[in-house]
Amino acid sequence: MGSGVVALLTLSLLLLIATHQAHSAIGVNWGTLSYHKMRPSTVVDLLKANKITKVKLFDSNPDALRALMGTGIQVMISIPNDLLSTFNPDLFVQQNLSRFMGKGGADIRYVAVGNEPFLTSYGGVYQNYVVPAMVNLQQSLVKANLASYVKLVVPCNADAYESNVPSQGTFRPDLMQIMTELASFLNSNGSPFVVNIYPFLSLYQNSDFPQDFAFFEGSSHPVLDGPNVYYNAFDGNFDTLVSALAKIGFGQMPIVIGEIGWPTDGAVGANLTAARVFNQGLINHLLSNKGTPLRPGSPPMDVYLFGLLDEGAKSTLPGNFERHWGIFSFDGQAKYRLNLGNKGGLKNAENVQYLPSRWCVAHPEKDMAQVADEHLRLACSQADCTTLNDGGSCSQLGEKDNISYVFNSYYQLQMQNEKSCDFDGLGMVTFLDPSVGDCRFLVGVTDKDLSSSSAEIMARWDIYHIWIGLVGVWALTRCYILY
Ligand SMILES: *[C@@H]1O[C@H](CO)[C@@H](O)[C@H](O)[C@H]1NC(C)=O
Ligand SMILES: *[C@@H]1O[C@H](CO)[C@@H](O)[C@H](O)[C@H]1NC(C)=O
Ligand SMILES: *[C@@H]1O[C@H](CO)[C@@H](O)[C@H](O)[C@H]1NC(C)=O
Repeated sequence: MGSGVVALLTLSLLLLIATHQAHSAIGVNWGTLSYHKMRPSTVVDLLKANKITKVKLFDSNPDALRALMGTGIQVMISIPNDLLSTFNPDLFVQQNLSRFMGKGGADIRYVAVGNEPFLTSYGGVYQNYVVPAMVNLQQSLVKANLASYVKLVVPCNADAYESNVPSQGTFRPDLMQIMTELASFLNSNGSPFVVNIYPFLSLYQNSDFPQDFAFFEGSSHPVLDGPNVYYNAFDGNFDTLVSALAKIGFGQMPIVIGEIGWPTDGAVGANLTAARVFNQGLINHLLSNKGTPLRPGSPPMDVYLFGLLDEGAKSTLPGNFERHWGIFSFDGQAKYRLNLGNKGGLKNAENVQYLPSRWCVAHPEKDMAQVADEHLRLACSQADCTTLNDGGSCSQLGEKDNISYVFNSYYQLQMQNEKSCDFDGLGMVTFLDPSVGDCRFLVGVTDKDLSSSSAEIMARWDIYHIWIGLVGVWALTRCYILY
């Protein structure tokens, strides 16, 4: 072989390695704060059907982990903030981690120690527990022989760092010491820095924020930073973190995006079009391998979309949009077209266990002037009514449909218990879908196996008896013919 050929082969090998390493993987966050949870196996089938190979959980739910066993899907589990100060690391590794791993088990690659524990709004109550918890947990991983396979990380909120331009990025002064310890711990154990980035929140919280800067289609307000120009909030935010890490000596640390996404309901800027444009723009940007001005050709290694499903039981303290981050609705139906990079669009969940097709509505012949405000308030304090508010998909309903929507949300929350549709005689169960336009009146789902409910078992017994009866007749006929 001539040296030219060798050089060419070496070059293409290097290119191959380089492109291989640079590719971002698109994963999802699977949150479960929902009144209408699908069976974990249904959700895992949904992941498989959409070729999603990485999933992040907010706890170490045994049912979810069991459903993920043997699928080859890589998993990040989490330790919730409020357990950071109390959990027993040896016990955690034994009961929440290694029990699910091994041959044919769940492929757990990361444990998130807390979730955004440095958020300013927590007032520092968790931050001092993070590094000690990691150190202890790392020792337990070593003892269990898992330390080279399972990596500890801390998903950080983007308000942990700040600056006007990306090159000046620095961690918040009150976090400087903790971040230095954290980064040095991550670095010595081969873990990435995990950060959650939300251009939607920048837009939502700040009316001066240029709308087109949140997206990926170019901006009429680019940020100029020395020789670098930023056309989207994501790149700017990412490079601010790169600079902050560089300032404490870890400018090369790999970065994973723990959460990123766009909600579809519950606020003016939250709608299907915006969510599709943002998420598709993000995915295309990542898969183009362009990277950012400070990390050209080197996009974040993994990116977990937030989220997989809508979570109708999430707190609405940050805003009504909180319950509408899913790329799928709570029941696993794609909300908009999205190509995750594997060609083809999203595939819906199959074999979802719906409650029967019936709804609770305001009785058409009754005067709703009598409906007690108390009823509506109570219903909406428990069930999800966020789509009724400004910017929501049901905000255009008239007064009576509005009341129907509230009645139905509550009725489904109560698993269609007949009494829950009474409302002093003003409610009525209907078998006609009352949905109007984009405003969907939901039918609940359940993670229980409906086929084993008592009514169903009775029905099966009837069929069984009829069958026995038929066999009996058949046998008699046979006897008759034989004898
Ligand atoms: C470990 O799993 C159990 C059972 O699901 C759960 O109750 C506990 O909170 C988990 N521990 C931690 C530290 O997450
Ligand atoms: C959807 O949201 C985008 C930005 O978030 C906004 O510009 C647009 O007007 C919204 N569309 C509708 C129909 O509300
Ligand atoms: C519909 O219900 C929501 C939430 O209860 C309320 O804020 C809104 O004013 C109602 N709209 C109408 C037209 O009654």
